[in-house]
Amino acid sequence: MHKMKEQFEVDYLSFRTEVSKCRKSLATRELSKILVKDPTFIIGSRFLTNVFSRFRLLAKIAYSASSSVVSLAEGMPNEATFPFKEISIKLNDGSSFTLDGQELGAALQYIPSQGYPPLLQSLREFQRRVHAPPLWESRDIMIVSGAQDGLSKTFEAILGPGDSLLVHDPFYPGVQVVGLPEVIPIPQDEYGVDADILRETLRNRKLSGKKMPKIMYINSTGMNPTGIIIPLERRKEIYRLACEYNFLILDDDPYHFVHFDDVEPKSFLSLDTEGRVIRLDSFSKVISSGLRIGFITAPAPLIASIELHLQSSHLHAPTLSQVIVYRLMKLWGYDGIMNHFMGIRRFYKQRRDVIARLAEKHLNDLVDFVLPKGGFFLWIKVRGINDTWKMIMQRGITEGIIMVPGSVFMKDSSKPCNAIRASFAKASYEEMDLAMKRLADLIRSELRNNYSIMNENLFIN
Ligand SMILES: Cc1ncc(COP(=O)(O)O)c(C=O)c1O
Repeated sequence: MHKMKEQFEVDYLSFRTEVSKCRKSLATRELSKILVKDPTFIIGSRFLTNVFSRFRLLAKIAYSASSSVVSLAEGMPNEATFPFKEISIKLNDGSSFTLDGQELGAALQYIPSQGYPPLLQSLREFQRRVHAPPLWESRDIMIVSGAQDGLSKTFEAILGPGDSLLVHDPFYPGVQVVGLPEVIPIPQDEYGVDADILRETLRNRKLSGKKMPKIMYINSTGMNPTGIIIPLERRKEIYRLACEYNFLILDDDPYHFVHFDDVEPKSFLSLDTEGRVIRLDSFSKVISSGLRIGFITAPAPLIASIELHLQSSHLHAPTLSQVIVYRLMKLWGYDGIMNHFMGIRRFYKQRRDVIARLAEKHLNDLVDFVLPKGGFFLWIKVRGINDTWKMIMQRGITEGIIMVPGSVFMKDSSKPCNAIRASFAKASYEEMDLAMKRLADLIRSELRNNYSIMNENLFIN
């Protein structure tokens, strides 16, 4: 059973925006917890926080009520009116499962915002086994509609006007989309965030009396776009700085199981002795992206405040998807899931090796790249070209290739950037070969016209 103890000493209230502090939990949402008899709601520390205190008595009464109690409380539609009788799912491994009767009814119904209780329970066990986080009883999990949803709800809860966020530069552009107050970029070397620059930046900021950043966004494994895995020593250094300068770490880690090293990276969550890590997992890359299921693991008070932001938008991640993931996890068990992830690693590692060989074959004297250690992307730096934007966005498309110009991933995307992101996730080997050949032709023709590119950039600046 998931016991909660308030053991972290972080002042989590200082990590909530004014808007977040004003948010009140929906009474009907709280009732949905009672109706599904989610045990963590009753004993969890979230239940003991002030935000939820108005519902404490109601929940206690309802939870201790016998099953003969008649409920006229729900605002839910009656499942008898739903047109679905059965949903059968066949898996590639030959096994199958069917949702029908009460389970199908539940799968098509509203649920508590935190998530489908049986899936929450499975994820708690999973997370505990994978990461063995210190002080596990003081943390909780919330299911979200993918990592993107998780990161935007987290930022909404934590970052208000005048607040700032640290990021490694380049970084996943889904962060900028959220519309953040101040983004402080920290350059990277081949091991990710440069810890010396991070330390210097924090020290200077403190000395200048500026407001200190509240949170750092990190995509620690198979980083999008660079494919870097931050090594353990670097992770520990960053974590030490988070403790010293009192900020949280948002580890957006959807490629955690898509690494190409022999050893599983040790997550920030595993290192988190002070309760500073908000971990984002996603099933998008390893089960399916259209299910839109991810989950946040964080200290319980942070989960409670992020949940309020979920309640104010889509109430909860899709129930049907949650039930499907739950049944899959139950069917496969821990070993089965890990086996599946291993197959995924083999699949993408082979593709990574192929694209690297093709890049060497066609682009050898034209570009530099580091072999990605995880994820889906090859980060290619073009020699002799200042900015790849027009080359890719205008001339590339007419020459028959689409890749992403590197500036999209930079904090200041108006500055020139000589990099390109090429995905090795989906294209066939023949397509990758053609794409690399076309890119080589494109770069060569661009280099022949290099003078005009330089002029254009000077003109823009
Ligand atoms: C680093 C990173 N974070 C988040 C996401 C969004 O993933 P999800 O489908 O889980 O929302 C992506 C997707 O490409 C990603 O690369």
